[in-house]
Amino acid sequence: MIKVSPSILSRDFTKLGAECDRIVKAGADMIHIDVMDGNFVPNITIGIPVVADLRKVSDAFFDVHLMIDRPDRYVKRFCDAGADMLTFHYENYGSDEDRIKVINAVKECGKKAGISIKPATEPEKLFSLLDKVDFVLVMSVEPGFGGQKFKEHTPDTIAKIKKYADKIGKTDLMIGVDGGINAETGTLCKNAGADVLIAGSYVFGSRDCAAAIASLK
Ligand code: DX5
Ligand code: ZN
Repeated sequence: MIKVSPSILSRDFTKLGAECDRIVKAGADMIHIDVMDGNFVPNITIGIPVVADLRKVSDAFFDVHLMIDRPDRYVKRFCDAGADMLTFHYENYGSDEDRIKVINAVKECGKKAGISIKPATEPEKLFSLLDKVDFVLVMSVEPGFGGQKFKEHTPDTIAKIKKYADKIGKTDLMIGVDGGINAETGTLCKNAGADVLIAGSYVFGSRDCAAAIASLK
């Protein structure tokens, strides 16, 4: 069964606790929290204290997407704050050795480890890391902002990752897709092998969040 992880990026930040509650009741499987530092991406959003405060009011699974430089510096603090899954970017580091250090640090905290690729990064680059992660997050827009248009080549990227994961017997890998997801683009991604659909504008822009979430499943 496909999982839906609504992104709270486009929400009213004074009401995040209530929004988390509302989307869980509407059928969300996880909550996607976009962390941006103004360096890795040209936008600044949520940080550690906000994740910690949300944790106090929500039992939901927190899918935390780090779009920051040198995420290795912050793994433990995000995990302690309440992240259930921590995803960083492939493009953060020049070597697999450094990437594996981050993956291991997340796992040592007892959390699920994810790695994400920007739209221009070839999926083959991830293959050497697939057996080490729980989650691969394929970006279907340039990271930084909600409300962008889905990039058409994304289903191909997902299919390549899915095919390689099957080839190496990594049957428990979750593949997520993030950016410009609606019922139509979501279907293309599901058919290509996605397990988790992240959607911000589509879910929260709908008058009926529950119906929007159901339309993605
Ligand atoms: C973009 C973020 C996404 C974004 C999704 O950098 O990682 O999670 O908020 O928003 P929509 O669904 O509006 O593209
Ligand atoms: Zn995201």
